[in-house]
Amino acid sequence: MHASRQPIGVFDSGIGGLTVVQALIHELPAESIVYFGDTARVPYGTKSKSTIVKFSLENVEFLLRFGVKCIVIACNTASSWALPTLRKYFKVPIIGVIRPGAMAAVRQTRTKRIGVIGTTATIRSGAYEAAIHRIDPSAKVISQECPLFVPLVEEGWLTGSICRAIAQAYLEPLTRQRIDTLILGCTHYPLLAPAIQQVLGRDVALVDSAQQTAAEVRGVLTAADAFAQPNGHPRYRFFVTDEPAHFNRVGHRLLTQMTGSVERVSLRGWP
Ligand code: DGL
Repeated sequence: MHASRQPIGVFDSGIGGLTVVQALIHELPAESIVYFGDTARVPYGTKSKSTIVKFSLENVEFLLRFGVKCIVIACNTASSWALPTLRKYFKVPIIGVIRPGAMAAVRQTRTKRIGVIGTTATIRSGAYEAAIHRIDPSAKVISQECPLFVPLVEEGWLTGSICRAIAQAYLEPLTRQRIDTLILGCTHYPLLAPAIQQVLGRDVALVDSAQQTAAEVRGVLTAADAFAQPNGHPRYRFFVTDEPAHFNRVGHRLLTQMTGSVERVSLRGWP
């Protein structure tokens, strides 16, 4: 099949990666997308590197069944730990969200004081810090893990006193460090942006890597001359590893174009 007809593959630990799909559809409206959400094994953010790498290998293998022309790792945790291994095993271009997020933050900051929030695994990987320093070694990076944010979003507690108290506890150290830019280094955090902005104040810019990641995918397709025909009919397919009911219910909040069925699948295991 010519690359122009092949879909883009996207995977995440669960449902949050739909925010990246939304950005991809906006940037590349003619492209078909196959989305894989590993809802049976979410969260990845509390797991070890070896487990995250193993799951990510399986996720890529699944997407390759659809002849995808490139793969986007929408999950920050998987991007942080698994990207080098995936690129070693697979020839298909693989794009993570860390470098795009780092680039957007370096472009945004005026004071070179950048905050990063993410899951425990993402923050412990040091991936954002390394990516920022590759672009600007003089930037100061202040990182903070926020393990309660994912369950807050999953429960739909995006506002209110509990949400505010948790946000305050996590974000106060960043305020003390006088950051002017904050990377929302987790698929779920854009949904908490109003609460986060309220705690940090309007002078701190929030960076969501989804848009920049979509721009990077455009670059990959340009280099490979692999764009879909502008007048074609893009197809969106969604696969999950647990019951699709929750995904169906919540998905529309993250992705307005969530049309089509959500199918449950099981994966072939890696050792
Ligand atoms: N998708 C994950 C991320 O962006 C958040 C959810 C999880 O912990 O698996 O880091």
